[in-house]
Amino acid sequence: MASPILGYLDPEFLAVMDNTMALLRHLFQTENELSITLPGTGMSAMEAAVCNVVQPGDEVVVGIHGFFGQRLAEIVERHGGTAVRVEVGFGQVIRADQIEVALDAHPDAKMVAVVHGETSAGIRQPLKDIGKLVREREKLFLVDTVCSLGGAHIPVDEYLIDICYSGGQKCIGGPAGISCITLNDRAMAVIDSRSRPVDTWYLDLTLIRKYWLSDRGYHHTAPGSLIYALHEALRLVQEEGLQERFARHQKCGDLLKAGLTQLGLELFGDPENRLPMLTCVMIPDGVDDAAVRGRLLQDYGIEIVGGFGPLKGKAWRIGLMGYSCSERNVHYLIAALREIL
Ligand SMILES: Cc1ncc(COP(=O)(O)O)c(C=O)c1O
Repeated sequence: MASPILGYLDPEFLAVMDNTMALLRHLFQTENELSITLPGTGMSAMEAAVCNVVQPGDEVVVGIHGFFGQRLAEIVERHGGTAVRVEVGFGQVIRADQIEVALDAHPDAKMVAVVHGETSAGIRQPLKDIGKLVREREKLFLVDTVCSLGGAHIPVDEYLIDICYSGGQKCIGGPAGISCITLNDRAMAVIDSRSRPVDTWYLDLTLIRKYWLSDRGYHHTAPGSLIYALHEALRLVQEEGLQERFARHQKCGDLLKAGLTQLGLELFGDPENRLPMLTCVMIPDGVDDAAVRGRLLQDYGIEIVGGFGPLKGKAWRIGLMGYSCSERNVHYLIAALREIL
C-alpha cells in the first residue's frame, strides 16, 4: 500500500489490474473473464451482485440461515424485487429440496442466492446440489463468499455458480475497503438484456466492465493502493497454494473446536457443516460475555466477537482467517480462555 500511486490509466497500473484478474480467476477457480475488484467493502459486491440482476418485479429465491442471508433478501427488495425467503434456523443449512419447492412455487424466479459462509452462525452452506438444481431450472446462482473465499474450497465453475463475490479483509488476508466479484457469460447475458439500466450508476457492471476489459475508459478513479494490497494478498494466496491454504484453515479450525470442547464449552450449529474460519461457541451459563471479551483484548491482545441476532449475548464468534489462522494463535487463545474462565 506504500507503493507510489499511479494514474488509473498508467500502463503499469493496467498491468497490475490484469494480473489481479488472473489471480482472482485462480482463487475463484473459474475461467470467467469478468473477475474484478470493486471499490468498497464486501457489501459493495453484495449490492452489485443483486442490483445488476434485479429489476422491479423480479423474484429471487434467497436461502437464509443467518444475518447475511437476511441482508441479501433486504437488498433484493430495496431494488424493487421480491425475495422468496427459504428460511431455516441459525446454525442449520438450506437443503436443495427446500430450494426446489420454492422454485416450483415461483417458476419465474430469476435467481437463487445463498451465503456460503454464514459469519453470524459459523455455518458452511453446501453448494453443489443447489448449483445443479439452479442450472437445470435455467436460473442464475449467486453465492456470497465474503467469509470463506481464500479459506475453503469454492470452485465457482465446478459448482455452477454464476455470480460470486467476496471481501478483501477476511480469508484473502487483504485490506478492508475493496471487494471482488466474478460473473460468467450467462450472468452477463442476463444483465446485458435488462429492459432498463441498472438502478445504481456506481455499481453498474456493464460500465465497470469497460474499464477492466475493453476500452479502459474512465468510470471511477481506481483505488490504487487498495488494488496493490489486494494484488499482493492474492499473490501470497497463490504462493501458499490453494489446497495448502484450505488445509491450514481446516486444521486450525479443527484444533480450535477441539480445544474449546476440552474446556467444556459447547459448539454452536450443525456439526456436519461448521466453518473452519469462523467458530461459534456458546457462552457458558453465569459467564459475563463483555467481561471475558474485555479481558481477552486488554490482557492478551486477542479480539473475539459476540453473537448476532438470536445469538446476541449467548455465543462468541472466533475468527481464524488468512494470516491470523495459525496453530500458535489457537493455542494462545485456548490458554488465555482457560485462565480467564
Ligand atoms: C457473509 C458476509 N457477507 C457480507 C459481509 C459484508 O462485508 P463487509 O462488512 O466487508 O461490507 C460480511 C461481513 O462480515 C459477511 O460475513
